[in-house]
Amino acid sequence: MKSGPRVTIRPAKHVEGSLRLPGDKSISHRYAMLAGIAEGKSRLENYSTGADCASTLGCLRSLGVHWERTDAAGNVIEIEGRGPGLTPPTTRLDCGNSGSTMRMLSGILAGQDFTSEMFGDESLTRRPMARIMKPLSAMGAKITATADDRPPLHITGGHLNSIQYKLPVASAQVKSCVLFAGLFAKGETCVEEPLRTRDHGEVALRAFGAELGRNGNSTRIAGGQKLRAIEARVPGDLSSAAFFFCAAALFPRSQLIIDTLLMNPTRARLLDILIGLGVRISITQLEEQHGELVGTVRVEGQNLKTAEIAGADSAALIDELPVLAAIAPFTEQGIRIRDAKELRVKECDRIKAITTNLRAMGAQVEEHEDGVTVPGGQKLHGAEIDSFGDHRIAMAFAIAALRAEGETQINGADAAVISFPSFFETLESLVQR
Ligand code: S3P
Repeated sequence: MKSGPRVTIRPAKHVEGSLRLPGDKSISHRYAMLAGIAEGKSRLENYSTGADCASTLGCLRSLGVHWERTDAAGNVIEIEGRGPGLTPPTTRLDCGNSGSTMRMLSGILAGQDFTSEMFGDESLTRRPMARIMKPLSAMGAKITATADDRPPLHITGGHLNSIQYKLPVASAQVKSCVLFAGLFAKGETCVEEPLRTRDHGEVALRAFGAELGRNGNSTRIAGGQKLRAIEARVPGDLSSAAFFFCAAALFPRSQLIIDTLLMNPTRARLLDILIGLGVRISITQLEEQHGELVGTVRVEGQNLKTAEIAGADSAALIDELPVLAAIAPFTEQGIRIRDAKELRVKECDRIKAITTNLRAMGAQVEEHEDGVTVPGGQKLHGAEIDSFGDHRIAMAFAIAALRAEGETQINGADAAVISFPSFFETLESLVQR
C-alpha cells in the first residue's frame, strides 16, 4: 500500500494493534478560531494534521492572527489571540476544501467591521451557503455569494443584532457559526436545532471562558463576552478512528485499541451501531479535558449482523455513514441508511459515490434520494474505484477493499490529506495478511 493519487489495497486476514490518532478535525477548527479572537496566547497540542484545519490557520494568518508550529512534528500550535477585532485581509481567504472553515469563520467575520472574501476549491464552490447567509444577514451582516448561494462569499460585518434562530437543517457548523456571531452581537442570541448535533462549538466556547445557556435543543449566548486563551490537547479524531474500528469489525480475529480518543456523546453513536452489529467494544480511562470526554476504546471483531440507521442517528453519524455503507455487504443482513440527504451536499455527492463504488466492486445496492440499502451476505471483488475527490470516500473504500477478493485500486486516494494525511500508512501498520 502506498500513499499517492492512486493506492492499491490488498485483502487482509485481520487487523491488530494499538494507536493514538491526530487531533479531531471539528475541535481543531473551533479551538483555532476561538484562540484567534481570545486574549492571550493559546497552545494547542495534537492539532489536526488534515489540510482542512491548515486552511483555517491560513485564513487566520490573513486576518492578522500570528501563530506558529512549535514542535518538530508540527502538531503543537501556539496562537497569539488578537481579541475580538481582527485585521482587514489584504488577500482573499482561501478555505481550500473546507466547508467547516468557510461556514464557521463566517460567524466571526460577520462581527468584523470590514469586508472579506472567502473562496475554496472546486468541491467547496459547489456547497450550499444559504444556511449561514440567512441567519448572518438577519443579524445585520451583508453577505453575497453566487446566484445560487454558493461560494465565493463576500462578507461585510460589524454592528450585529442578536437573533432567535431556528435551524431549518440540523447542522453543527451552522449552529457554531451563529453562536460565534452571537459573541459580537448586541443582546442574547439563541439557536434552536431540530435535532441535537455535535456540541463542540458550545464546549469550546465554554473552555475559552464564555457563558452559554442551554434549554432542550436551544442554546443561548450573550454578546460582548471576552474569551481567554487556553492550553489544551485536542483529543484523537473519532471520525478517523471510525475507519479502523470498521476495519477491525470486519474480521472476527481483530483486536484494536485506540487511546486518548474523543468520546463526546454527540459524536460516539458509531460505537452503539457497532455494538448493535455484534462487535465487542470496551471503553476505559474516561476523563474530561476542557469539557470534552476522552477515553480508550478496545474493539474485537465478530460476525456482523444488521443495522437500520435513520432519523436522528443519520445526523449523528453523518461522517461515518460512508464507511458503514462500505462494510455493509459483509454483514449478515445488510445495512439500511435513510434520512441522510445531507450526504448529497458533502465534499461530493456521497450517496452517488457509495453506490457507484459498491457496484464497481460487484455489490448489490439500492440508491435512495436520502440514503442506501445494502443487502448483507455479499462477496466483493477488487476493482478500480474513485474517491470522487472526497477524503471519506477514499478511506471508506480502503476498508471495504480489505475484505474483497483481489486487489482494489483507489484513484484520487490522496484526498485523504483533507482530514488524515497518514491514513494509508496507519492502516498498513494494523493490517495482518
Ligand atoms: C461538522 C459538522 C458536520 C460534519 C462535518 C463537520 C462540524 O457538517 O459533516 O464534517 O465540525 O461541525 P454539517 O454541520 O454540515 O452537518
